[in-house]
Amino acid sequence: MKIIRANDYADISRKAANILSAQIILKPDCVLGLATGGTPVGAYQQLVEWYNKGDLDFSGVTTVNLDEYRGLPKDHPESYWSFMHRHLFDHVNINPARINLPDGTNPDADAACAQYNQIIHSVGGIDLQLLGLGPNGHIGFNEPGKAFELETHCVDLTEATIEANKRFFDGNEDLVPRQAYTMGIKTIMQARKVLVVANGLAKAKAVKAVVSGPVTPECPGSILQLHPDCTLVADEEALSLL
Ligand code: GLP
Repeated sequence: MKIIRANDYADISRKAANILSAQIILKPDCVLGLATGGTPVGAYQQLVEWYNKGDLDFSGVTTVNLDEYRGLPKDHPESYWSFMHRHLFDHVNINPARINLPDGTNPDADAACAQYNQIIHSVGGIDLQLLGLGPNGHIGFNEPGKAFELETHCVDLTEATIEANKRFFDGNEDLVPRQAYTMGIKTIMQARKVLVVANGLAKAKAVKAVVSGPVTPECPGSILQLHPDCTLVADEEALSLL
């Protein structure tokens, strides 16, 4: 895994946005795998800024997001559909027909996951997958477990994840959905490039486990050690335990 040291959050965001921009410029009809969570927000802001300057064109880009809460309406402010529109899609010239997320409104988990696998296959896989890290080393919503789940599946969120994400739900963990549909580990590993962003001390343990711990489903992100083209952009705090 290649590690790029950044000075601070703004620097992580700029460096990550540079890598994403390069992908779009080199392959205007690329497939970007996108992530939610707080960490990528700065990179999305930077992309919007460059788009507004005329430096980027999203018209040929297809996106597939990592995950979506099960049971939240799309227009709920904390659905990942809303998140992505608020932070990126509403501000650039992406074709709405090329935006893809798992359908969290479909209560039939098997059908929703099969449909999402089909979408990912039909667009030809992912050129560049952006990832944040959960404090427990999760990627997408692939939570620590006994085995790596391969393709899109329905997960029960762990207490640690519900705790970490309640800040988006007025700090009330009762409002956090208990389940999500997430892209699987095989799909993420089949992305031609992977870009991980991590910021701050709260991620230091996860970064250490992902970069230098044993490759184990107990830390889903550790599988990235086996990816042939994975780059981590992180600040000194996130890298402090390495
Ligand atoms: C959620 C998302 C993950 C994300 C993680 C970390 O659980 N499903 O994709 O990486 O949050 O989020 P943050 O960047 O806010 O720490």
